[in-house]
Amino acid sequence: MAIVLGIESSCDETAVALVNSERQIIAQRIASQDEEHAPYGGVVPEIAARAHAERLAPMIEAVLEETGIALPDLDAIAATAGPGLIGGVMVGLVSAKALAMASGVPLLAINHLEGHALSPRLADAELAFPYALLLVSGGHCQILRVDGVGQYRRFATTIDDALGEAFDKTAKLLGLGYPGGPAVEQLALEGDPQAVPLPRPLVGSGEPHFSFAGLKSAVLRAKESGQHADADIAASFQQAAIDCLIDRLRIALEAMGPVPALVVAGGVAANKAIRSALEEMAAKHSMRFVAPPLALCTDNAAMIAWAGIERLPLGQFDPLDVSARPRWPLDPEAEPARGAGVKA
Ligand code: KG4
Ligand code: ZN
Repeated sequence: MAIVLGIESSCDETAVALVNSERQIIAQRIASQDEEHAPYGGVVPEIAARAHAERLAPMIEAVLEETGIALPDLDAIAATAGPGLIGGVMVGLVSAKALAMASGVPLLAINHLEGHALSPRLADAELAFPYALLLVSGGHCQILRVDGVGQYRRFATTIDDALGEAFDKTAKLLGLGYPGGPAVEQLALEGDPQAVPLPRPLVGSGEPHFSFAGLKSAVLRAKESGQHADADIAASFQQAAIDCLIDRLRIALEAMGPVPALVVAGGVAANKAIRSALEEMAAKHSMRFVAPPLALCTDNAAMIAWAGIERLPLGQFDPLDVSARPRWPLDPEAEPARGAGVKA
């Protein structure tokens, strides 16, 4: 049985986990930085990097102590090496390198997106390749076909904001706290999803890409008009987002050909309204719907350790001089979406 230590520090969660090849999370710690970033309504990279640097070492010590596992017992040390906020990524990766160097345990530099992409297989032993993956988080909004470990084909990405980012910005406009996703979802429960006319950007387009910047601007105008209750704006925004997701997924699924399962991952997958819309869509396409438990949807280190477990049989360990990568597309062959700005 293999055991891998996972380290995650690419955004605002500092996390460590020990996972074994029997799909057991033996121990884990997650420290959220929500309080530090809340006053700014978003993640401040410098604050995030400092917080990771302060917290990571004691957390690693804690999971090792709790389980009685010593560094040399590990089969690999897996750390997120990108994409993400570079300062935070470097804190995690450099810590992993130091541990690997001191113990002689091999290092695995993991793509954070690969962690999200494979995490459903940690929770679900029945989930076999290939599957269609909707990855929706604060930084990413992609539709991929996952054919195996390291085999990802991207069919869609966002040309501007990620969906989680749109939720966070909507929350900010409505004066809700950070992170915004859960707050918008909560408020939407009290609103009418048809009350506010909002656009569905790119719906009907033949390419399955996403765009949410126009939706966010429309939310701003609705708020400034003073004509709508905040709950109605939240519900209408969420409905518009769902309509976009479903339409774009339909086009992407047509393009990728038959796959037996639709999997959703990333922080936005915590949204219950989105989950049930996706579940309905999967049923219509005779696909199995798989959503990992909520704790595996948002950023965590178990998914990074699990990606390490999945990578072990490939025997491709990383050298100690491997670089942290602020951008690191899962599918390097994918063309950038037309009209896309800076996001990979
Ligand atoms: O995967 P994640 O933890 O971090 C990134 O890699 O981005 O995703 C965080 C994102 C945030 O934008 C947050 O607002 C969003 O996921 N999110 C939600 C919900 N819970 C978290 N969005 C909509 N509804 C939710 N319930
Ligand atoms: Zn993430």
